[in-house]
Amino acid sequence: MTGDNPMFGPNDFKLGIWRMNCEGGLAITKAPERWRAKWEDIEAVAKMADAAGFELILPLARWRGYGGSIDNAALSYETLTQGAALAAITENTSIFVTVHVALVHPVFAAKAVATIDHVSGGRAGLNIVCGWNQEEFDMFGAELIDHDRRYDQGFEWYDIFARLLAGERFDHEGEFYSVKDAYTSPVTVQRPRPVTMSAGGSAAGRAFAAKAADFLFAVPRDLDHARQLVSEIEETSSQAGRHAGIFGISHVVCRETQEEAEEFYDYYAVEMADNEALDYWVGAKQATSGSVPDEVFRQRRRVAGGHGSVPLIGTPDKVAADLVELHKAGFAGTTVSFLDFKKELPFFVDRVLPLLEETGLRRPVSGA
Ligand SMILES: Cc1cc2nc3c(=O)[nH]c(=O)nc-3n(C[C@H](O)[C@H](O)[C@H](O)COP(=O)(O)O)c2cc1C
Repeated sequence: MTGDNPMFGPNDFKLGIWRMNCEGGLAITKAPERWRAKWEDIEAVAKMADAAGFELILPLARWRGYGGSIDNAALSYETLTQGAALAAITENTSIFVTVHVALVHPVFAAKAVATIDHVSGGRAGLNIVCGWNQEEFDMFGAELIDHDRRYDQGFEWYDIFARLLAGERFDHEGEFYSVKDAYTSPVTVQRPRPVTMSAGGSAAGRAFAAKAADFLFAVPRDLDHARQLVSEIEETSSQAGRHAGIFGISHVVCRETQEEAEEFYDYYAVEMADNEALDYWVGAKQATSGSVPDEVFRQRRRVAGGHGSVPLIGTPDKVAADLVELHKAGFAGTTVSFLDFKKELPFFVDRVLPLLEETGLRRPVSGA
């Protein structure tokens, strides 16, 4: 791969911001302090993360809310459009888009991602998702096909996307797509294609990542499980002869004291949990996805706190130590999400990043 995408930069443990394009962020809570996804706040956080050396900003692709009295996650910005806007106001970080293969045609996606890649000078990234929510697909008149066939569609989608950006001009008659005399111009600055990520943790999802993704999103329930996941994913990669970096998702409450952090975590993820939305998400995910371990679905605080992701709760020392452990388990990096990204990211940047720099996992931002 050529290009200077920061996802291939020198830091041994990479950091990203996840889901700030969506109201509620990664939490499923009714707490009034929750993330409201106002555009000026998204801009401010993007600039802050960019200046602090975060490797990526990654959005959720979502078309409707989780229902219940506040319809959590209903408000979200479309990711390709947002990507072009963020590309124009950032300088270093990778600007990811998230695309549903069944809802966005690969010819359209190739041109849109190439556009963002040119606006950003080679910093575009693509997160490929095969989807999990029938109601969302109903809005497009699309069918959520059987689980593993969704990945067959993903493979076909990816082949078309990658061939277009490699500069090919071709006809294709497949099971899911038919294209005639297709090409795209411009192609991406990154060659032969932009950095890719995929977000599917089932066996079929891992096999897909081994072919199409540079990074696979995985959802560990704890550090032991993180190590187990890495060895399982590595096995799939070895069989495929291609290795994707493994990326985690985490939600962070970082405060001066452990008590303060835990108290706030309990407040937004237990006391103020959005239980109707939580039931909806758990039910739909259990029925259609293999990404999240069953035990995690029963841990309601973790689901309300961060959709079942790894909780990083405590002092800067504790949060930094947990991140180091994720690295030792074999993770290439993780995304971090906060209840209020704008309010809480500065503390993380000021207090946790220097600790990671001391360990050598990350370099100080040049000029800092
Ligand atoms: C980290 C992560 C991020 C995801 N992001 C999205 C997303 O933005 N939109 C979406 O519809 N699905 C998203 N998904 C779900 C994928 O659509 C995935 O296809 C679904 O979980 C079913 O596949 P699986 O059983 O292989 O996980 C995400 C999944 C994970 C693990």
